[in-house]
Amino acid sequence: MKSSLTGKLTFALVEPDTGLAHAVTMSPPGIVDELRRSGLRGRGGGGFEVAEKWRLCAAAEGPGRFIVCNAAEGEPGSFKDRAILQGFAQLVFEGMTIAAAAVGASRGILYLRREYGYMAAHMESVLAARRHAGLLGQCIPGRGDFDFDISIHLGDGAYVCGQETALLEYLEGRRGEPRNRPPWPTTRGLRGAPTVVHNVETFAWVSCVLARGAAWFKNLGTAGSPGLKLFSVSGDCQRPGVYEFQLGFSISELLETVGAERVKGVQIGGASGRMIPPSQFHRTIAMEDLPYGGAIIVFGEERDMLDVAGNYLRFFVRESCGQCVPCREGTRRLLDGVERLRQGRCPAVHLDRLCELGNTIRLTSKCGLGQSAPQAFLSIVSHYRRELMGRERHERG
Ligand SMILES: Cc1cc2nc3c(=O)[nH]c(=O)nc-3n(C[C@H](O)[C@H](O)[C@H](O)COP(=O)(O)O)c2cc1C
Ligand code: SF4
Repeated sequence: MKSSLTGKLTFALVEPDTGLAHAVTMSPPGIVDELRRSGLRGRGGGGFEVAEKWRLCAAAEGPGRFIVCNAAEGEPGSFKDRAILQGFAQLVFEGMTIAAAAVGASRGILYLRREYGYMAAHMESVLAARRHAGLLGQCIPGRGDFDFDISIHLGDGAYVCGQETALLEYLEGRRGEPRNRPPWPTTRGLRGAPTVVHNVETFAWVSCVLARGAAWFKNLGTAGSPGLKLFSVSGDCQRPGVYEFQLGFSISELLETVGAERVKGVQIGGASGRMIPPSQFHRTIAMEDLPYGGAIIVFGEERDMLDVAGNYLRFFVRESCGQCVPCREGTRRLLDGVERLRQGRCPAVHLDRLCELGNTIRLTSKCGLGQSAPQAFLSIVSHYRRELMGRERHERG
């Protein structure tokens, strides 16, 4: 089930540019059909179907089209995109080129968080080699009408800039703040042009699907979440690292693989995800059960769940862009509630009101940051309520 980054990741087994060589023999709709048959969903967290995104972009009116690779990787606990860019940048650029061939884009941009700037020189050299080999630039072999090139854009590291419309704003030279949707980027994205935005890992899987065929990918994983996926696993375990799993694996299997014992909870999806208690470790990571991002964090028995909830909320208070009230003010109120719990000044009825507030923030915030900000807190209250209230009794004496 497992392979760590130092083991045999599928990315290490796929010959670079086999997928592109295959793609340039196909018609653009043929490439989209192959992706649809594979069932590949985006690996950036939302799990939107890749082929549908490409179909919408190809069908939208220009002028021009863009392919954007999202290498913001701001989710606390996620480091798999860094590993992919370090080890398999070729596959990522290849996947961007295949996407361009499918939707008719001539320009690609890889948005790289500034903390990963040390990788830029290596990535530029990979791009230069691809241009030299005729795999980027004018007239890619096999498709005389197809020109495509990629540039790297360094970001400034705000978490919200990973949200796709905030990222587009940033690339256009403005503050990275989320736009209203619709219109979706596939219709009006970068500089008003139809744009495909994908996570780093998604582009790498595109190359693998085109190289090995849709059936290979579709036969792995589950019906609703086909294929393989990389996860950054950290926290209280003996073997943290980047792991490749077939989707549909259970949390128990994961814990055994990474060497985690006496576990109090597992946070699936980083700060914006949710805490799963031991009674639910039979549950599976797949869209049908527990939706996934790229980060899994293990919390051992000695961890204080109120501290965990407070840490995550503090992150969201700091990272909220401030555009909308539920996210800007609501996350502060939840954090105040955590402080009151810590001081033993939060009776059960007040905790219930905080949960109502959390649900309101989820439902009324403008973008995914606010919509997911209360999730960790709500799941911790739901599964560890006795611990939180017990602390109140204990600290009041
Ligand atoms: C606050 C916030 C931060 C995000 N950060 C990232 C990120 O760092 N990397 C990423 O690929 N997607 C991130 N996303 C998701 C993107 O908005 C978008 O859905 C994703 O890039 C699409 O890629 P996919 O189709 O490959 O899943 C973030 C979303 C939100 C709301
Ligand atoms: S939900 Fe938060 S991050 Fe998103 S637009 Fe509103 S204030 Fe900004």
